[in-house]
Amino acid sequence: VTASLPTPTNAPLLGGPVLRWGIVAPGGIGHDWVAAVREHTDQQIVAVGSRSAERAAEFARQHAIPRAYGAVAALVEDPGVDAVYVAAPHSEHARLALAAIAAGKHVLVEKPFTTTVADARAVAAAARDAGVFAMEAMWSRFLPQTTVIDRLLRDGEIGEPVHACAQFGGAIPVERTSRLFDPALGGGCLLDLGVYTSWFVRFTLGPGELAGVLGHIGETGVEDHAVLTTRHGGATGVSASSFAAELPSHAFVSGTRGRIEIEPPFWAPGGFLMTTRDGMLREWSDPSAVLGRAGLAYPVVAAAAHIDAGLLDAPEHPLDAVCDVLGVLEQARARIGAEGSTTQPGGDANPDSVEESA
Ligand SMILES: NC(=O)c1ccc[n+]([C@@H]2O[C@H](COP(=O)([O-])OP(=O)(O)OC[C@H]3O[C@@H](n4cnc5c(N)ncnc54)[C@H](OP(=O)(O)O)[C@@H]3O)[C@@H](O)[C@H]2O)c1
Repeated sequence: VTASLPTPTNAPLLGGPVLRWGIVAPGGIGHDWVAAVREHTDQQIVAVGSRSAERAAEFARQHAIPRAYGAVAALVEDPGVDAVYVAAPHSEHARLALAAIAAGKHVLVEKPFTTTVADARAVAAAARDAGVFAMEAMWSRFLPQTTVIDRLLRDGEIGEPVHACAQFGGAIPVERTSRLFDPALGGGCLLDLGVYTSWFVRFTLGPGELAGVLGHIGETGVEDHAVLTTRHGGATGVSASSFAAELPSHAFVSGTRGRIEIEPPFWAPGGFLMTTRDGMLREWSDPSAVLGRAGLAYPVVAAAAHIDAGLLDAPEHPLDAVCDVLGVLEQARARIGAEGSTTQPGGDANPDSVEESA
């Protein structure tokens, strides 16, 4: 049996308010972001800022970006830039966002927004004080499918949520210089992949607290495998992330009257299946050609729409929700004993073993 589903409510990719964007840190995701924004939106990318003038110029040449700066300070001072997209490694997000905010620019910051709750709160406060908009570019939240799932959950279509689960992992060869494994750059699977799984669990179940952690510290001192259990009122969450093994890219939320299962990979554009107790099966599949990393375009138009409406925080992905997720990740990293983690909640860090806490 099939029945209709709500219509997506994501901001339109074309035809909305247009901003002039500057991109900071032209690396891996920077290329994909520019390609997605250029191909699928009418947003303007007018400037790029790098630590190196040569790299900025080369990126600008490759993507036909009008202005290139060999210093972030120069980019954020550009009066022709309305909003800055921060695409540096995690450890640099807070510093770069604060620099852009100090220059009066709106900011869209790659996931994870920052590496600690304290930093996230500092960026949020600075943005509020400066009267500029700040948002984490957690693209999964802004996908059409997510807006439909949000509506279904709010309408109680699966009853009271009872349990949510998400996993994201790949077998990634250790490279000491890669940001993924470098403690100084916020390395470790939790901040890179666990941010998606913990976001999904929080999105479907609401704010939660960390209940238990199992994890493993790899040879560079950061966690390469982590399983988190969380408590959300009466509901439970399980979130798994790994650099040690590929995990099925699966996510679901189950409630008292049904469940929603997201088509893998759950973080990218795709579809989902809703099954309810009365035997109703409802399937949603993204009809657009905006698939894979092209979905990076969605948070950009959402940010532009919110900025145009005079908002300072995204209602569908507020910084308080971002802090909830960061708080869980921060505590989990500390409990596992990851190098570079800040909170020390007691319990010995043991770099070679799996730690469990109730
Ligand atoms: N949404 C997604 O699907 C997605 C996917 C991948 C990554 N990301 C996020 O995007 C961010 C960047 O990831 P990435 O894979 O693009 O990283 P990356 O290629 O390793 O680094 C991006 C750029 O950051 C700049 N940078 C600034 N400070 C740096 C420092 N201290 N060390 C190294 N580089 C520095 C570098 O450019 P210059 O030296 O030219 O300044 C570098 O090219 C991460 O926070 C990640 O979580 C998101």
